[in-house]
Amino acid sequence: MADMATIEGLCKRRGFVYRSSEIYGGFNGFFDYGPLGVELKNNIKRAWWNDFVHGREDIVGLDASIIMHPDVWRASGHVAGFSDPMVDCKESKLRFRADQIFFAPVKVSGEIIGYISVLEDEGMQSEAERKAMELKRHLAKQGELEPVALKNYMDAKPEEYELIPSPATGKPGSLTPPRAFNLMFQTYVGAMRDESAVAYLRPETAQGIFADFKNVIDTTRVKIPFGIAQIGKAFRNEITPRNFVFRSREFEQMEIEYFISPREDWEKLHRQWIDDCKKWFVSIGIPADRLGEDVHPKEKLAHYAKACTDITFHFPHGLQELQGIAVRGNFDLTQHQDASGKNLEYFDENLKEKYLPHVIEPSLGVDRTFLAVMTAAYAEDEVPNDKGQPEKRTLLKFSPRVAPFKAAVFPLVKNKPELFERARSLYKKLSRRWNVFFDASGAIGRRYRRQDEIGTPFGITIDFQTVEQDGTVTLRDRDTTKQVRMGEDELISHLSKEIDGI
Ligand code: GLY
Repeated sequence: MADMATIEGLCKRRGFVYRSSEIYGGFNGFFDYGPLGVELKNNIKRAWWNDFVHGREDIVGLDASIIMHPDVWRASGHVAGFSDPMVDCKESKLRFRADQIFFAPVKVSGEIIGYISVLEDEGMQSEAERKAMELKRHLAKQGELEPVALKNYMDAKPEEYELIPSPATGKPGSLTPPRAFNLMFQTYVGAMRDESAVAYLRPETAQGIFADFKNVIDTTRVKIPFGIAQIGKAFRNEITPRNFVFRSREFEQMEIEYFISPREDWEKLHRQWIDDCKKWFVSIGIPADRLGEDVHPKEKLAHYAKACTDITFHFPHGLQELQGIAVRGNFDLTQHQDASGKNLEYFDENLKEKYLPHVIEPSLGVDRTFLAVMTAAYAEDEVPNDKGQPEKRTLLKFSPRVAPFKAAVFPLVKNKPELFERARSLYKKLSRRWNVFFDASGAIGRRYRRQDEIGTPFGITIDFQTVEQDGTVTLRDRDTTKQVRMGEDELISHLSKEIDGI
């Protein structure tokens, strides 16, 4: 599997993702999607909306504002509790997430000779052992170094704070105890800059759905069980954004609140949602065997949740959450009903009773899905070059559904007007329906390779047989590099089936 630097390098080189404000040195935690990235991202969002909103009669869409009344965030619990534990290093002025710092006492023949610390990482255990050996050598201690047992900084005893070295400087005495750091970005609305004007950039799209729940039931014909879906930007002032677009400060979510009766068998529906979401990932090209499930233990659930299962994926930095599917009870609607004073109950005509519905919440990050799709698609192999010699190639095996370009059209040679014009006219025809690339420059093998690297599934070449004989073109498959000849009508129905599934 490719590592993060390889994925990041390809994303930059081929115009998928750039660091935000790069000409000013970048801006940590913010990214720009380039010409290919925006296509891939839009295709992911479109596939999700098609399948979960247009493809289902029980889900409707919504696009709520990013800045909402600040009372929304007081009622939801975000003002008081949406925080991460933060630690400052007073010497380096760096800030860490406390739960990402690990430490251990270094023991030699039963005696504690000092402490080491490391930041959470796949290789942190061996890093910790290396640091422990170094400390023993530095202090010239004789005796047996005991195994290094790492503990989280959140579990440090108060008397240990002074002894644990800063991961920035390696020296003890400069780390503060953990403090809660609210992750919401604040802004001011209107001309005043006082407390009364404070508002927040939404840290999740979910609350827009809860706040509009009554509007939706009053203005549409939805009946429980039904869902409201939303795609939109959300913002979190992460203490340590990292792992490329996996954890950034500005990101995009695709969330559904699926409203059910309190008497419903929520465990069965929860399972159904997990299965449906996994199937959707497979439909956009993420292999089922790279997906897993992580059931949150009861004591680790968020304040609003009755249950939560993450769908996990093998990202370059490890097995991590791709999507959370939480059962939120009716916590949010209860909070908003109490805080707003508006009755948000639903009248169930079947049960002949009023209630505040419970919800199942499949919540997915667009940027994480993008990274998962990129990672799953990345491949290297060897194919013969124009001279028949084996040549290494990098390719992105995107599913045609999400590929930025669906096909590329090539005249075999550039300087034959009849080939060139025929290829232009096919390109124009196809691009009325799909995003298609036209390329006439360079050897045909190099042109294929350029498309392989950006994941274009089909290469269509116009050659002498096309214009002089039967009008057929060659269709090249990106993954196998096999070519078949076909006429234009057959080509279009083949592409429709492969790209749109119809
Ligand atoms: N709405 C859940 C989340 O943003 O993680």
